[in-house]
Amino acid sequence: MDQSLVPASRRIAVFGAGYIGLVTGACLAELGHGVVVRDIVPAKVAALTAGEVPFHEPGLGELIARNRGRLAFTLEAATALAGAEVAYVCVDTPPGPAGDADLSRVWAVVEELTSAPDLAAVVVKSTVPVGTGDRIRQALDRAGLAHVGYAANPEFTAEGKAVSDFMRPDRIVIGSADEATGRLVADLHRGVDGPVVRMDVRSAELAKLTANALLMTRISFANEIATLCEGTGADVEQVMAAVGMDPRIGPHFLRAGLGWGGSCFPKDGVALKQMASDTGQHLQLLGAVIDVNNLQARRALQRLKEQLGGFGGKRVAVLGMAFKAGTDDMRQAPSTVVASRLLAEGAEVCCWDPLARVTEEQPWSHTVRFEDVREALAGADAAIVVTEWPELAGLPWEEVAGEMRAAVLFDGRNLLDPARMRAAGFAYLSVGRP
Ligand code: UDX
Repeated sequence: MDQSLVPASRRIAVFGAGYIGLVTGACLAELGHGVVVRDIVPAKVAALTAGEVPFHEPGLGELIARNRGRLAFTLEAATALAGAEVAYVCVDTPPGPAGDADLSRVWAVVEELTSAPDLAAVVVKSTVPVGTGDRIRQALDRAGLAHVGYAANPEFTAEGKAVSDFMRPDRIVIGSADEATGRLVADLHRGVDGPVVRMDVRSAELAKLTANALLMTRISFANEIATLCEGTGADVEQVMAAVGMDPRIGPHFLRAGLGWGGSCFPKDGVALKQMASDTGQHLQLLGAVIDVNNLQARRALQRLKEQLGGFGGKRVAVLGMAFKAGTDDMRQAPSTVVASRLLAEGAEVCCWDPLARVTEEQPWSHTVRFEDVREALAGADAAIVVTEWPELAGLPWEEVAGEMRAAVLFDGRNLLDPARMRAAGFAYLSVGRP
């Protein structure tokens, strides 16, 4: 990047070294700013300081290594804030017991900011309910920080392309009450290739939640049409290919399958629904969108069960555990529902994934994990494709058919060619395809 593009490099404190905080910190350093990332987990800070990236994200390791001189990691808020002009809040907002976003980590950071009178601005990237920014504004005012600006700068980051989503975004949304803070945050992004969209804080907060909800709606709609295809003999892939060619609709997020998982959609969908409920509104459409998604993996299992005549005593290979291909993330992955249900119905579960990081003990401690996909499939009574790993498309299925006890495959991501699979001898089921 041409450093002459950076008019004024700033000192920035980033709170949270998760996906969003690390990517934000590394990209801001790449843009020429001096960044200190603070996290409260000692092992994470130690690993990052030693040059290790704690999760799989293409390009992030290289970016961190390249910007070592402008990027540091610490456990101490005071160290991050020393000399900082901007504090970025990138901590997670997981679902609380009632489904609403749990903001306790955000508030813990805001408390720490009150000891940093030299700050020019506080910027929140964490996904928060509408109105959170106004409450943070009031807290800053009460703490004698009325001179510190506030901005909401939500992320639209997809795992696996987080670095390019920051450096070449579709849009940079900045919500602020005052012109100077909005301009300051926009200036931090000088060198980023993407349009800046300025608005008020509440609209920026809702833009993030709305974008996710609309993407979820598209997926659930595609899944409902897939079910209709199963009942009518149409092919959802062909239907959606034609539908997506309409420029008013577009081709993205119309892939039928086992539904969405991940760190954002499941929690943000419920958080938006609960937030609306708290204002007395029932978002009926969003409720249905979530219901369709919850059904998707269970419907698939029901169809596979009918094919097998029950799961009891059957050995089933679960192909893919990560919530999508290209990541090691298993948060809210459909594979967890699939493996749990198979075990509950008495199946023996053999699983394979090239990257997945298993952090939850259940249900995985009751499954057998294989490094080699062929070994996971050998002797199985059935297999189910849960994650669209390209490795699976490249398997010699003709040979695999002979290695399984029974050549039965449920393709939960419509990854494989039905004609080829049937020619290879498979009883082949997929989502919304005849
Ligand atoms: C998503 C949003 O894309 C991102 O903008 C937001 O900031 C966070 O949530 P991510 O969770 O990384 O990002 O994954 P994404 O690639 O969007 O996929 C989400 C889920 O939807 C995955 O489980 C994927 O398999 C599923 N999906 C996606 C479908 O089932 N069908 C599709 O057509 C697209």
